Parts: sequence; C-alpha cells; structure tokens
Amino acid sequence: MSEPIGIGLLGLGVVGTGVARTLLEKRESIARRVGRALELRRILVRDTQRPRALSGLPLTTDPDAVLDDPAISVIVEVLGGEEPAHTYIRRALAAGKHVATANKEVMAKHGPELVAAAAARGVDVAYEASVGGGIPVIGPFRLDLLANDISQVTAIINGTTNYIITRMSQAGLDFATALREAQEAGYAEPDPRNDIEGIDAAYKLAILATLAFHARVHPNDVYYEGITSLSPSDFRYAEELGYAIKLLAIGKQTDQGLELRVHPTFLPTSSLLASVDGVFNAVQVDGDLVGRIQFYGRGAGAGPTSSAVVADVIDLAQRLPGEMPIRAQATAYEARPIGRIEDVHTRYYLRLVARDRPGVIAAIASVFGQLQISLASIIQKEDVPADGPNGESGETYAEIVFMTHRAHEAAVQQARQRIALLPAVARIGSVIRVED
Ligand SMILES: NC(=O)c1ccc[n+]([C@@H]2O[C@H](COP(=O)([O-])OP(=O)(O)OC[C@H]3O[C@@H](n4cnc5c(N)ncnc54)[C@H](OP(=O)(O)O)[C@@H]3O)[C@@H](O)[C@H]2O)c1
Repeated sequence: MSEPIGIGLLGLGVVGTGVARTLLEKRESIARRVGRALELRRILVRDTQRPRALSGLPLTTDPDAVLDDPAISVIVEVLGGEEPAHTYIRRALAAGKHVATANKEVMAKHGPELVAAAAARGVDVAYEASVGGGIPVIGPFRLDLLANDISQVTAIINGTTNYIITRMSQAGLDFATALREAQEAGYAEPDPRNDIEGIDAAYKLAILATLAFHARVHPNDVYYEGITSLSPSDFRYAEELGYAIKLLAIGKQTDQGLELRVHPTFLPTSSLLASVDGVFNAVQVDGDLVGRIQFYGRGAGAGPTSSAVVADVIDLAQRLPGEMPIRAQATAYEARPIGRIEDVHTRYYLRLVARDRPGVIAAIASVFGQLQISLASIIQKEDVPADGPNGESGETYAEIVFMTHRAHEAAVQQARQRIALLPAVARIGSVIRVED
C-alpha cells in the first residue's frame, strides 16, 4: 500500500473520542476498505492536560497545526457550536481538504455556502452525522432518493426531548422531573435549552428540508416550539383519545410553498412514529416514486455518531482531490416561498380549566363557532385545582378538552385569546396540533 492518508480531528469530546477510537481500533479493516491506511495526525482540543479516555494521541491547542498541515487530506470537525467550527471548515475547504462534520448548527446555517465552497475547490463536505446520529439519512437524500419529488418529511430528530416525552407519557412524570432524570442519565445537557425549546430539531429540519426539497432553507425559516409547557394531563388525554404526543419536525410541500415546523404533536397511536420511544430517532419520507419510507435508530451517542462520521471519512478518503473525480452534490438550492405558521391547516387539541357552571361549555363553543372552527369532541373532568389568573378559592373547577376538525391556525390562536378572556375560564392549559 502507498502512503497513509492524513486525518486531522477538530475536537476530542464524546464524538471525537468515538471517532479516534474507531480509526485506531478498526485501522486494518478501514485500510482495506479505503485501499490505503488512515493516519490520525493531529487532534485539536482546548486543553491538552485534561485526562482523556485514549492516551498517546497527537493533541494540540493550535488550530493552524491541523488546518495548515499539508499531510492532512481530510479534516473531521466535531467541536460543536457555530464558531470557530464554521471558520475552521471554511479554511479546510479553501486549503483543498475534504471535511466530515457532525455539526448541525453549522450545516443548517451555512450548508449551501460550504457545499459551494467545497465544489469550487474540488473537494467535498460530508455531514451524515449532523442529523439522526448513526441513522443513514443524509446519504439517501444525496443519492438514493434523487429521482423522487418529495412531498413531506416527518421526523423525530431530538433524542433528549423524545426521552423526556416518553418518561412523561409512560411514568406520568411532570416535565421538570423527566428533564432532571434525562440530565442524570446523560441524555440532556446541563444547559438543555437548545433541545427542550426545539432549536436543535429546527436546525436538523433545515438540513433535511434543504436536501429533500432542493431548497435554500435557513433555520430562521423553521417555526419551532419546545416541550416545556406539556403537562402529564396532556399525555393522559392523548391516550384516552387514541394519540401519542411527540416533538415532530415537519417539512411539507404546499401550494403556498414550504411548510416547516417543529412542535409537540398529537399522532395516532397506530402510526409508526408514535412508537418511536426513548432516545431513538426516526425520519419518515414521502416520495412520489418510492412511497413512504422510514429510517429508525439511535440518533446520538459515541458509537452511532462515529458510525456516520467514520463512514464519511472512508468515503472521502476514497476520492481524494486529484485522484478520483469529486461527486457533484446533486442538488440545486432554489429559493422557495416559506409558508407562515398562521396559514397552517390542521386539527387541534385545546385543554383549559374553567368554573364548573352551566353554560360554560356553550360559551366556549360559541367562540369556536364565531371563528368557523368546528369541534370533533369534548371531554370534561370535574374537580381540578384552578391555579390560574382567574381562579378563585371556594369554586369547583373542571378541566375541559376540545378536539377540533381541521381549522386555520390563525383562527385557533384567535379563539385561544378570546377564550382566555371569558370570565369562567381560569386558564388555558395547552394547545397542541394534531397530525392524522
Ligand atoms: N454527542 C452526540 O451524541 C452527538 C450526536 C450527533 C452529533 N453531535 C455533534 O457533534 C459535535 C461534537 O459533539 P460532542 O458531544 O462530541 O461535544 P463535546 O463532548 O462537548 O466535545 C467538544 C470537543 O471539542 C473541543 N473544543 C470545543 N471548542 C473548541 C475550541 N474552540 N478550540 C479547541 N477545541 C475545542 C473540546 O475540547 P476539550 O476536550 O479540551 O474541552 C472537546 O474535545 C457537535 O456538533 C454535536 O452537535 C453530537
């Protein structure tokens, strides 16, 4: 075999350690697959003195030592965050090096620009691990699904929130307890905002929608809501009504353009996505030729994420600049109109607490009627505490749940505001969209 191919690693955390371990432990089988050995030449970290799971590695705190090393042909970026990761990727591409990254924030915000910069230099940027960890999903969009017109992508792509939701649903935990449990189990970060507020899923949806719809989608185009206002009673009502609640990322082609949204969603328990529990992820794709397909598996963790990153490295190492033709990224990112959340049409679940008096349901139903929202079902449970702004002691309160037929989002939001102002209503618990 000829000279080894030099690999530079940016980051040696959860994923970087998994990647380094895989490159070392599978050195021989990877060399057979590539046709040449891969050599881990330099690893960028913040602190070289910190104890590491792997010893004897060529650590450095100097990014130039990795990015400017002429013997490094493939850079693996697993630092995380937008900067300096974005700048380092740009520099690596400009220097004619291939890049493999697991960074959803960078790819969501700068993907099309980086792909173009790579193509201009005759190299490639690979990012299989940026969505769905070990689940092959970027590769299929870049190759296997290219003949399809894709109408919809529906995904559970944040393992942290899916774990929390599963615990709330199955063990009846409230949100704060389930979050604490996820943090103790290592499934949620000490600062969990990006996950629980839906931001991480919005980044990933931006990446998937860019590929699925060959469109220029920025994370700012994605409407997102997190899971922080879900309560155990929402899960009980969902079950009673035959639904599961999931944080869904939905990308749809509509006559108005692309509909891109991340929010808690009622899904029929009979649907395949409803049974995706715990830290597992799933991506469902509807294509005109292929029909409905699903990808399912572990969306995070050192093993699954290294599976995707090292596969990218092997692929890139097989087509080094000057040795093999670079495969064009077969997508033209068109500017497409993005629909507004106010224009969404779907069914809705609305839970509220009101005084248990005659005429209350009729007053609420009349607000729905004025706004052309038709009701599919109503559930009422008596004797609940009314700890809301309009609640008074000495009164009996009832929790009331409304399921609507298909309605206009703008009308439902207006109904929510008007109902909250009714004197008999103590508080609106939640409003959750339903996908049938
Ligand atoms: N964790 C997962 O399961 C998973 C799954 C899919 C995708 N990802 C993505 O993979 C990437 C890495 O995630 P991770 O969980 O491995 O992160 P992590 O455990 O926090 O590791 C980050 C590594 O990068 C180094 N680093 C960070 N900023 C640096 C800087 N400015 N200069 C030099 N070194 C720097 C850190 O150095 P020190 O070690 O010296 O602190 C550390 O080794 C992220 O983009 C993440 O979204 C992660």
